Amino acid sequence: MAQPRSRDQTLALRRRLVGSSCKLFFSNDPVKIVRARGQYMYDENGKQYLDCINNVAHVGHCHPDVVKAAHEQNQLLNTNSRYLHDNLVDYAERLSKTLPEKLCIFYFLNSGSEANDLALRLARQFTNHEDVIVLDDAYHGHLTSLIDISPYKFRNLEGQKEWVHVAPVPDTYRGLYREDHEDAATAYADEVKNIIDHAHKRGRKIAAFFVESLPSVGGQIIPPAGYFQKVAQHVHSAGGVFIADEIQVGFGRVGKHFWAFQLQGEDFIPDIVTMGKPIGNGHPIACVATTRAIAEAFAATGVEYFNTFGGNPVSCAIGLAVLDVIEKEHLQARASEVGNFLMKLLKEQQIKHPIIGDVRGCGLFIGVDLIKDQAERTPATAEAECLITRLKEEFILLSTDGPGRNVLKFKPPMCFNMEDAKLVVDTIDKILTDMEKEHLNQKKTSTCST
Ligand SMILES: Cc1ncc(COP(=O)(O)O)c(C=O)c1O
Repeated sequence: MAQPRSRDQTLALRRRLVGSSCKLFFSNDPVKIVRARGQYMYDENGKQYLDCINNVAHVGHCHPDVVKAAHEQNQLLNTNSRYLHDNLVDYAERLSKTLPEKLCIFYFLNSGSEANDLALRLARQFTNHEDVIVLDDAYHGHLTSLIDISPYKFRNLEGQKEWVHVAPVPDTYRGLYREDHEDAATAYADEVKNIIDHAHKRGRKIAAFFVESLPSVGGQIIPPAGYFQKVAQHVHSAGGVFIADEIQVGFGRVGKHFWAFQLQGEDFIPDIVTMGKPIGNGHPIACVATTRAIAEAFAATGVEYFNTFGGNPVSCAIGLAVLDVIEKEHLQARASEVGNFLMKLLKEQQIKHPIIGDVRGCGLFIGVDLIKDQAERTPATAEAECLITRLKEEFILLSTDGPGRNVLKFKPPMCFNMEDAKLVVDTIDKILTDMEKEHLNQKKTSTCST
């Protein structure tokens, strides 16, 4: 039998054969993972890592029920959705039960980017308008159409298209209107209204407000409740639709609700919802849910929507199995329970370590905002980088988000447990304490002190 390839050999081959814009985590010392189970990943030497970031392996890496569902359907049939198959309709029906009644028509695709691209087409077809309002620092996918509506990407490329408008992130910690504002939801929604008015003056017409229900790349932000309702009013008055990107945050992650947009209140319903990442627990599936009126406007062109792999029987069997596991293992309730515990532990650390400026989140979607100073809340970018590097040396995988790359993001598989939460917070405490000591000792050689 051939010798297994060493990590360094794999790295050398990857550097030679794969585009260098495909980045590795910890690029100076990348990890080679050969298997995973639940919330744990294992390297080529059998070393176990605690995974605090993989929101794709939603019900746990390689969940046996999901693997079994895929295997059984693979042995029977896999083909495109031009044939009748029960998996497709069963799956659409199951998803519809998780959503408000109005969102009753489904399209199946292969990736979050495909879902968002279709959402954009639906919105434009329905409204006959072109323009899109997005939040600053947002990321909605890697297709050309989505780079155009992702400030996180287009700011480093050719820039903002004339049909794209950027609204401020409704961030009450470091944004325009903060926790001391009497009505941040209205103030942030009024910013969107101003953008619409300004666009109208230029003769432009709004097709959609496109937003992540909880902006993740923007820094694990929890928009103030009521903001979406107010924005939706403005956008609807302008003839546009509201698109909620649930690609990172859907499927029970926020605990209290199945969908993160529901955190805004029962009176809020988007016109289009896009789903991806956790939907297939690692298998490439995505979905767009919308209203009958929007779907009918899309169909009225007479142009077929065909997606070779979208909605195939294997994908749908997997999607159904993921929903079954969420229910059977009470993962939504667990996200609340473990998430609350993790938040409590992190807030205790906030009292102890001045570098922790804010701890925010809901369920198993939590951000820890690291700052250099209380007055300016300057992002502690280098310190955040150092912390996650040291965590990796302790076999804990964590990452950062936000324009300042200073927000620790927790989005673990939903089987994450109390002991995992305790372990990661104890380790963060230990590392921050060390970093503070290094700072006190003025070890100028260290780049890692707080
Ligand atoms: C919020 C959000 N939308 C869309 C996408 C694109 O999804 P995909 O990478 O599956 O195309 C991502 C991916 O990171 C995302 O985070």
